[in-house]
Amino acid sequence: MEDSWRKLKRDCERCEACELCRGRHNLVFADGNEEAKIMFVGEGPGEQEDLQGRPFVGPAGKLLDLMLELIDLDRTKVYIANIVKCRPPHNRDPLPAEQEACSPFLARQIALVRPRIIVCLGRIAAQGIMKADLRITREHGVWYEHDGCMYMATYHPSALLRDESKRPEAFEDLVKLRQQIREMCPEVYD
Ligand code: URA
Repeated sequence: MEDSWRKLKRDCERCEACELCRGRHNLVFADGNEEAKIMFVGEGPGEQEDLQGRPFVGPAGKLLDLMLELIDLDRTKVYIANIVKCRPPHNRDPLPAEQEACSPFLARQIALVRPRIIVCLGRIAAQGIMKADLRITREHGVWYEHDGCMYMATYHPSALLRDESKRPEAFEDLVKLRQQIREMCPEVYD
């Protein structure tokens, strides 16, 4: 049977495939435009996201909004989701089993949005989506093509908050992203 947003959101709300659902205040499904050509994928909800039920609304989210603004994007032009939809306790990395349990939901989100470009924010997202052994320090800003979709990893905004010395490299990644958007989907900037 064909998937739909309604079905996917309902399946996600009901999910008890891992322990993370027990500690959550809210499921953090996604934000942005379901018809976007560009998708960003983070790791998992933090405290504010868990309380508000929206991804990237805490300090890292404020920085992500600024990063989008730098290349003339905002949440109306992109779709934002996470590898796991429920907050891991104390913001620890989601366990491999938790990522695995949640991965069908992200796959269904990607299948419904059908983005042309996917940007992985940080190691967890990049390793989950792009390549299990991806090294973010070496491979950020590098494009990979798969089934007509372009994938790039960049630093997670939380990493940029912790270590400002990474910001120039992240900026270069954003410039590459803007260039790729101009080539693949120029209508985004119309
Ligand atoms: N960090 C993430 O990876 N995702 C969020 O939604 C918030 C912070």
